[in-house]
Amino acid sequence: MNEIAPVLQPEVLPEYVASPVLDGEAREEAVRMMIRLAEHVRNKTTDQADDNWYEPVENYYDEELFKAEIDLLFKRIPLPLALSAELPGKNTYKAMDAAGVPVIITRDAKGEVHAMLNICRHRGALICGDGYGESRALTCPYHAWSYGMNGELRGIYGESTFGEFDKSERGLVQLPVAEAAGLIFVCLTPDLEIDIDSWLGDFKPVLEALKLDECYVFSSRQMPGPNWKVVIEGFLEGYHFASLHPNTVFKTNLSNTAIFDGFGAHERVAFALRTLEKDIDEDIESLDPSSHVGSIIWLFPGMSFAGGWRERMTCAFVLPGKTVGESMTEQRVLTRKPITEENRADLETFRDFFYDVTYEEDYLTGYGVQKGVSNMSGTTQIYGRNEPGVQYAHKTINRLMKENHQPGYPLPREA
Ligand code: FES
Ligand SMILES: [Fe+2]
Repeated sequence: MNEIAPVLQPEVLPEYVASPVLDGEAREEAVRMMIRLAEHVRNKTTDQADDNWYEPVENYYDEELFKAEIDLLFKRIPLPLALSAELPGKNTYKAMDAAGVPVIITRDAKGEVHAMLNICRHRGALICGDGYGESRALTCPYHAWSYGMNGELRGIYGESTFGEFDKSERGLVQLPVAEAAGLIFVCLTPDLEIDIDSWLGDFKPVLEALKLDECYVFSSRQMPGPNWKVVIEGFLEGYHFASLHPNTVFKTNLSNTAIFDGFGAHERVAFALRTLEKDIDEDIESLDPSSHVGSIIWLFPGMSFAGGWRERMTCAFVLPGKTVGESMTEQRVLTRKPITEENRADLETFRDFFYDVTYEEDYLTGYGVQKGVSNMSGTTQIYGRNEPGVQYAHKTINRLMKENHQPGYPLPREA
């Protein structure tokens, strides 16, 4: 039987804890957002795109298109594969699978960041298991070749018996990497370059306002889901809050009351919180945006920060899975205060609530969508004018697929 999303009945709703993180121009911008949202609350309106958008359903289950998305998008654009806070000190690393590519990201003894294929140059074994670690060297489990944290080949077990070769040519394969706004961006194709300033453009200050490099990573978990595009859509609209999340998100956020802004490939969606509705007759400019606005800061192709102006936030990063109908989301909880015995229980409540809502309500619904579209060939999905964030993501995918196109690959179908 197909699983249907249950309606959750959480005993405790996590508290939204305001934070003084916003300052300067970032705070002024947040106040302008709050004023826009207040107008929508008063008028029962929401930001709208010019028209509806139609997406052919084949784009969600076509294996050839899926392969093209991996090769032309995921292997060519800068992917935010780690937070700076996940490699907090010297000699730390994070290993992971990124769209089928084993990657290791390190911070070496000098504090410099490197990204490399997590593949031994002897006979191709994976060097580190996925996850975080601290080490002065990376040692392959197969025959114990050992690499520095910068990827250079340092030690060969039984070297006198092995035969001569140039060790400097057998370092780990380096990937282009850039650290900006508390994120570590990696390109999965070794010979490409990352121009992070042009990739982020005017989204960079939006990200910097989150002060991610001052955050602590409380938890990180992998969550399987349906096709990556089905999953990202769920982060980019608040039209579904009342119906899908009646006892969870809808308790704190208004439904279908949102503002949208696009920044190149990236975007920001923000929802009116119930506190804004309650304080709607106050002087709006004097309210605290961190407790009246629910923001989603969304980095193409699938990283979203929810509640980023508050003391605790969530960060989800969606990557394609092994097949077109699968994805893998890295779900993290971040906090602005050091983790202590006093705040641990609250953080655990926040973490479990977030995981439960996302998986039980959004992802299970998404699996249904995946099954739905796969049985509706020749038809389209329709995204309303009140879902501008979802439309924008699809338009960006189509634009980049065209810009990066190479012979032999299909393009997304257009309605
Ligand atoms: S494959 Fe890594 S040391 Fe042999
Ligand atoms: Fe949702």
